[in-house]
Amino acid sequence: MTSATPYAGRIAFVTGAARGFGKAFSEALSGSGAHVVMTDRDADALQAAAAEIRARGGRVSALTCDVSDEGDVAAAMEAVRRDHGGLDILINNAGLHSEEYNTTMANTGIAGLRRLFDVNVMGVIICTLAAAPLMAGREGASIVNISSTAAYPVPTAYGVSKLAVRGLTTAFARELGGSGVRVNAIAPGLIMTDTIRAELSPQTVAYVQAQQVLGREGVPQDIVNAMLYLTSPAASFVTGETLKVGGGFTLGMG
Ligand SMILES: NC(=O)c1ccc[n+]([C@@H]2O[C@H](COP(=O)([O-])OP(=O)(O)OC[C@H]3O[C@@H](n4cnc5c(N)ncnc54)[C@H](O)[C@@H]3O)[C@@H](O)[C@H]2O)c1
Repeated sequence: MTSATPYAGRIAFVTGAARGFGKAFSEALSGSGAHVVMTDRDADALQAAAAEIRARGGRVSALTCDVSDEGDVAAAMEAVRRDHGGLDILINNAGLHSEEYNTTMANTGIAGLRRLFDVNVMGVIICTLAAAPLMAGREGASIVNISSTAAYPVPTAYGVSKLAVRGLTTAFARELGGSGVRVNAIAPGLIMTDTIRAELSPQTVAYVQAQQVLGREGVPQDIVNAMLYLTSPAASFVTGETLKVGGGFTLGMG
């Protein structure tokens, strides 16, 4: 690996890649030399995002895939095996996080909870189990899960789903460590993606920002930087960890 293209020859699989963090991760990894398999359940937005990155010189392919659907994920992983022979980096990023899940269990309701846990929790399990055989024994193989600082105080259904992601990170770190695959997570604080700007109420945004100890707004590049660290050789002795990137959000909780 050269310093100009530290991910040259690497194959990465990013879920929820049509927008937000997933698109930013795909752009950063392909810009660093990896081939990125971008996946999302939103086919049109995914194709548009992949075309945009390709137009800027990135090496990406796009596969429509719902992470909560075992058949979709199996087909996508089989395409990776056929086209690339294996996988080096998996970013379990796809997640539901709109305001409707930032509430109590009762308010979310059984149908909403099933949908939330199917995507945010089962999606991580399904993708990790399907990717593990493709990653086993590959030097530097690394999985990054996207949790949330909402998983530290856990007053909402969403927070509980992201607490499960922290648990899965330690469980899979132990389960896959023997095959040389590191598994870590990032717990972003409030990061101003287009979805957050469109969906979170000004009250929620103001509440979270008031809890931060750093005054500035969180931006996707903050999470990209953490992902690049965790997938790099600089983190080769780090596994089972969840790195909070939230301007000290949880420090303000008392
Ligand atoms: N933005 C934040 O402030 C923030 C903070 C903490 C954690 N997170 C987490 O980071 C991740 C990405 O957040 P974002 O702000 O970029 O979100 P976003 O809503 O902008 O993008 C999420 C993408 O995931 C896709 N997706 C949703 N369900 C899917 C499924 N079942 N299968 C495949 N794709 C699916 C959507 O189509 C969308 O393109 C999520 O897991 C979210 O919970 C975000």
